[in-house]
Amino acid sequence: MEQKNLDQIIRETVARYMKHSLIVAGNWKMNMTVREGMEFLEKLGPVDGKVMIFPPYTTLAVLAGEFRRRGITYGPQNFHYKDSGAYTGEISLPMIRELGCDCLLVGHSERRSYYNETDEEIHKKIQAALSENFFVMLCIGENLDERKSGQWKKVLRKQLLEDLEGLSRDKIPYIQIAYEPIWAIGTGVSASTEEITETHRYLKTVLQELTGSDIPLLYGGSVNEKNAAEIGSCPGVDGFLIGGASLKPDKFRKIIEISKRE
Ligand code: PGA
Repeated sequence: MEQKNLDQIIRETVARYMKHSLIVAGNWKMNMTVREGMEFLEKLGPVDGKVMIFPPYTTLAVLAGEFRRRGITYGPQNFHYKDSGAYTGEISLPMIRELGCDCLLVGHSERRSYYNETDEEIHKKIQAALSENFFVMLCIGENLDERKSGQWKKVLRKQLLEDLEGLSRDKIPYIQIAYEPIWAIGTGVSASTEEITETHRYLKTVLQELTGSDIPLLYGGSVNEKNAAEIGSCPGVDGFLIGGASLKPDKFRKIIEISKRE
């Protein structure tokens, strides 16, 4: 009963955010030493709105308090689904929790393609993270061939079904999705507003069917301070996941400003 009330509160808070501002999430990938991260935060200055940053582990660990002090939600770009053990090079959820993180990035296309992360593994990670009440930002996306051949709906639907399989009702408020067409990541050319609108409409329908809820759906792929307003006004876009432009404090700040809706 207590859990239900908490979930209700979270759901209402997320709904309130959605009405007022877009979510602005920065994926720093393998960029930003601790020193560079600190300089970034100093140049960025105070922020309000729903701002998230996913730094590399070292920067995450050292600057956790700085993110928290500034009201920026922070978390890792990857993690292992086991709590501990002989998994050289991996980081576990208890380690992440100790840093005060409450959100995680899962299933980024670079993890899927460079490190062969499968939907099965992503599913295990999501299950583990949700059982510990982390907020999960799941990335999905199709490649250029899949877009051109008209397979994109099938591909995206499969990712959602496999990654979120068995999702229980009480965990729904902890899920956010980032739609990132692989062909638009890091290319400087985002998907068109027509493509974004059509894809987000489709994904919202699948998510509704799957969960019965309006799950927050972000767009990612060459978002910058120039195209954010246009992309953010597409129906079904609840925020951005930003790579390159999240490394520049002036650009990131502009996107945060654009994303305020009051
Ligand atoms: P980009 O990266 O903004 O540099 O295209 C987005 C991402 O990979 O999350």
